[in-house]
Amino acid sequence: MAYRLLSPGPVVLVSSLFDKRAAITPIAWNMPVSDDPPMVALEIWDKHFVYKAIMQTKDFVVNIPSTEMADTVRKLGGVSGAKVDKFSEYGLTKEKSEKVKSPRLGSAIGILECKLREDERMLKEYNIVLGDVVYAEAEEGVFIDRWHPEKDGPKIINHLGGRVFSVPSGRILE
Ligand SMILES: Cc1cc2nc3c(=O)[nH]c(=O)nc-3n(C[C@H](O)[C@H](O)[C@H](O)COP(=O)(O)O)c2cc1C
Repeated sequence: MAYRLLSPGPVVLVSSLFDKRAAITPIAWNMPVSDDPPMVALEIWDKHFVYKAIMQTKDFVVNIPSTEMADTVRKLGGVSGAKVDKFSEYGLTKEKSEKVKSPRLGSAIGILECKLREDERMLKEYNIVLGDVVYAEAEEGVFIDRWHPEKDGPKIINHLGGRVFSVPSGRILE
């Protein structure tokens, strides 16, 4: 219940690398933790393939998908990268990142390339993965200093819980 009261934030797709296989996993429990230095936190179950990949590669990418990918996001959350290569299984475009070894998602409307901040306590006690953002970019026209849900075009996806997603519909205060 607590989680759903605080939702929805944008659901993100976290990508990383384990040996030669790319991992990509939907993560709804994500938050910024610092502006300077830029840092984010993700809550990732330590049995997930992407967690294993991040621990090996020591970096990851937070890819922000648009509503066009909603169905794929759900599918990516229903299978483990340990069993299938999710990039090829779901026809996703894998791109080389600017500053990290982990690949990024070509169709993302926002990208945060992160280096793992190895905080043993956060990892062991809470499965909280902290990342220092070393590079960020967003699709032009969609993000101008902030998201613009009032404009036409791609929008972020919110996860309300279970199989239910929603989309921000506009601005209410100026
Ligand atoms: C919309 C959505 C949000 C999710 N959020 C999280 C999350 O915040 N933390 C987490 O550990 N798992 C989360 N999951 C579950 C994982 O994405 C799912 O178990 C996935 O298949 C793990 O894949 P992997 O083993 O390839 O990493 C979410 C799934 C979906 C569909």
